[in-house]
Amino acid sequence: MISKCLFPAAGYGTRFLPATKAVPKEMLPILTKPLLQYGVEEAISAGIKNMAIVTGRGKRSIEDHFDNSFELESQLSGTSKEHYLYEIKDVIEKATFTYVRQQEMLGLGHAILTGEPLIGNEPFAVILADDLCDCDNAGVLQQMIEIYKKYECSIVAIEEVPNSEVHKYGIVECKAINNSEDIFHVTNMIEKPSPKNSPSNMAIIGRYILTPDIFNILRKISPDHSSEIQITDALLAQAKSGNVIAYKFKGKRFDCGDVNGYVKATNFFARKEGII
Ligand code: G1P
Repeated sequence: MISKCLFPAAGYGTRFLPATKAVPKEMLPILTKPLLQYGVEEAISAGIKNMAIVTGRGKRSIEDHFDNSFELESQLSGTSKEHYLYEIKDVIEKATFTYVRQQEMLGLGHAILTGEPLIGNEPFAVILADDLCDCDNAGVLQQMIEIYKKYECSIVAIEEVPNSEVHKYGIVECKAINNSEDIFHVTNMIEKPSPKNSPSNMAIIGRYILTPDIFNILRKISPDHSSEIQITDALLAQAKSGNVIAYKFKGKRFDCGDVNGYVKATNFFARKEGII
């Protein structure tokens, strides 16, 4: 039912300079695997086969990563190192990858609109690869798809954050549906409010399911004070005219767009793999 996942991956990764000068931030590894591959694997485990990636200038290594490398394969073939390629080969076999370039960085809403030709007129998932999630059972996207099957509307994944951090996120105001502890009806949303103006501490994390009417809404959204088109504003318009759900997902999230979160994720996965 949800067959495509959009990955906005055109940002500059300024907070990771100089590492991101020539390497896309989505290709930074946690242990040996690039952030974007974790996202693609999450989408595959949710039953999604089409990965639609919005790239930009200087991001060609993303395309090379999700493609065969005949030279490397023939070098490693028949040697004791061949197994190092199995994990990525498996991903490449299970999914198809399409790309479009975002020519100007005009915000997440604009990046999602840039992906429209890859998505078409169907509901789709969005993963922001720098929000790296680890779940005991079903991944975040798989959890959200289960909810989509029932409500068939746009869904944002949320997590409670300290008041001091609301300025980093889209924040939702919402009402529990049928006294549920984790499924909420969104009544208001605001992008990166000050703690004083924040309607709650429920922050949107980088997982969305969007119905395709979002594209027409995005076309009409005006840029905000920083000249960016925000997906949060488009979702608010959708919430006002229909239904948008906020879902408190089960699992852990690391903000790998920030050096501190990136180090925490590295330590977490290193412990999980028994490396430290
Ligand atoms: C974007 C969204 C924001 C959301 C966040 C999740 O912000 O605009 O609403 O809470 O992703 O990571 P960014 O991190 O791109 O500034």
